[in-house]
Amino acid sequence: RHHVLSLADFKPAEYDTVLQTAASFQEVLSRRTKKVPTLQGQVVANLFFEPSTRTRSSFELAAKRLSADTLNFAAATSSMTKGETILDTAKTYLAMGTDIMVVRHKEAGVPNAIAAEMDRLGVKVSVLNAGDGQHEHPSQALLDLFTICSLIDPNHPRLELLQGKKIAIVGDILHSRVARSNIWSFIASGAQVHLAAPPTLLPKLFAEYILEEDAGTWRRGDAGTRGRGDTGNEEDTQTQAYNNVVNKNENFSVSPRHPLSASSSQLFLHWQLEPALQDADFVMTLRLQKERMTAHLLPSLREYHQLFGITSTKLQLCKPHVKVLHPGPVNRGVEISSELMDDPEFSLIQSQVTSGVAVRMALLYLLGSGKA
Ligand code: CP
Repeated sequence: RHHVLSLADFKPAEYDTVLQTAASFQEVLSRRTKKVPTLQGQVVANLFFEPSTRTRSSFELAAKRLSADTLNFAAATSSMTKGETILDTAKTYLAMGTDIMVVRHKEAGVPNAIAAEMDRLGVKVSVLNAGDGQHEHPSQALLDLFTICSLIDPNHPRLELLQGKKIAIVGDILHSRVARSNIWSFIASGAQVHLAAPPTLLPKLFAEYILEEDAGTWRRGDAGTRGRGDTGNEEDTQTQAYNNVVNKNENFSVSPRHPLSASSSQLFLHWQLEPALQDADFVMTLRLQKERMTAHLLPSLREYHQLFGITSTKLQLCKPHVKVLHPGPVNRGVEISSELMDDPEFSLIQSQVTSGVAVRMALLYLLGSGKA
């Protein structure tokens, strides 16, 4: 493998290679020196066309721990403000001797376009997708996988450890590239994946699937009210919102190869929270991506928290040892209660950030040393 753009075609052996390599780097990071000379002389360019805190910083730190030289690009302070294109920007970094480009962009497909251009030029540059639009965020899903597998077996994290586990993914699935990558990896592991969201925050294909499954019980006016427990005049707003999603987000549907498109016995959809949480081993809660939302997607944050926000009380439905994850950044008190987020007994959120460095070291090492 030359690039890491998506987890759609990741093989079980590749997941295990990343997990085991990350475990060895985790051990390196526990030492006093924390550094290895593996990528000495190589250049890693962080090309972030969209804001980031943890992904950009942890890729930079990972590259430095591997002794690579790092270049950090931010669109707002770059010559893109003078009209330079994305591909010309990438070629500028190529001309400086970049070996690995880590790319984030608000539009799906930009890392693929840069990778295709590098391949067309016949250069040995690897491209790593650091999050593209609503498409995928592979390194985040790999660090989520590593965090969970390391918890189960710190000495030998591996994909099969999740076989038969119940994992709930809750919240703004419509806008979540993390969820799309999580689904690939969790399905590959043999886990049971339960998605829970209001219908307005599910991609069209997901929403239609639910409507089909619920045929006979669903009416258009029900779109935002099922499971809500209260009534009011918001049905019309929600129905309108649902129709807006269906009409406007054609391109956000999952690909025909997505597990959802096959009749998967591992993927379950809910537009109520409780069935997804029931006996869950892990709960992945997602940020409401307000910056990508149209006005009608949500009735209110208060109502969202009441219905889909994860709290200690709601966790009582899960297995006693349940753990909660969130890719960050978090809207405290919206998708997860502030108290639960900070509770070390249940929250893996800080562990995810810590895992990110070792997992990104593994990815850079495997690409940089040509072993991926
Ligand atoms: N999880 C994640 O991608 O966070 P950042 O946007 O801070 O990189």
